[in-house]
Amino acid sequence: MSSTENPTTSFTAVAPFYDELMKQVPYRMWVGYYLLLLSHQNAHPKTILDVCCGTGTMCEMLTQEGYEMAGVDLAAEMIRIAKKKASRKRLNIHYECADAAEFEMGDTYDAAYSFFDSLNNILDADQLQRAFIQVAKHIKPGGSFIFDVNTAYAFETQLFDQEDLKQRSKLKYKWNGDWDPEKRIITVNMKFWRNGEEFTETHRQRAYTDEELIGMLVQAGFKDIQRFHSYTLNPPRFKSDRLHYTAIKA
Ligand SMILES: C[S@@+](CC[C@H](N)C(=O)[O-])C[C@H]1O[C@@H](n2cnc3c(N)ncnc32)[C@H](O)[C@@H]1O
Repeated sequence: MSSTENPTTSFTAVAPFYDELMKQVPYRMWVGYYLLLLSHQNAHPKTILDVCCGTGTMCEMLTQEGYEMAGVDLAAEMIRIAKKKASRKRLNIHYECADAAEFEMGDTYDAAYSFFDSLNNILDADQLQRAFIQVAKHIKPGGSFIFDVNTAYAFETQLFDQEDLKQRSKLKYKWNGDWDPEKRIITVNMKFWRNGEEFTETHRQRAYTDEELIGMLVQAGFKDIQRFHSYTLNPPRFKSDRLHYTAIKA
């Protein structure tokens, strides 16, 4: 796959096991951190859009906190599971399957966010610029946009070289990342084993520089841009492997 292609087949084979794979992910803490960043921006949304919502775990938690939620994601399988979960839990969440660079929800929101390095999956800078423009179109003036990204430091230090091959684990996996410092793209070959069956996925992520991200945000009509060493209100450090950006729609 070239660096300009969309990863339309990513998050497909793994979709049925995504929540199982993510069971150690501290989504509750992320929701708490998201609410902290909102209050740091003095933003008080009622309606929120989750961009690259995956199987909707954060949407569900925020619905339970009283927010009116919507989510969009490129992977049809992830959205199918998100819809099934919401319907089983009787949660009213509007989900759409679409590319972040092109989506139309038919509504505007008080805020939008994108968590779990989802935007790193957009490999082409023009596509990311279009995604920011689409997000801006969907937020009311004065509304908040918050997202996180993996940094180049994360990729240089093999963040993606992970495995769980323990005998007792139902879902075993082994991932290897191959970082191209020129293109600033990491290719992660993922192998999974479940019930004796093997399946694979290849994910690619691009590390955007601060200048690129801020330039694109401004171009899309955002202001008051701030960035934080993730899960703190501190500025980025040399060794930050993840950053959270906050911005306000002008
Ligand atoms: C690591 S998952 C995170 C999902 C969710 N935010 C979470 O926290 O569990 C990344 C998600 O980004 C989605 N994605 C990747 N590229 C996308 C694009 N161009 N437009 C919309 N969604 C995209 C994938 O389908 C996947 O569901």
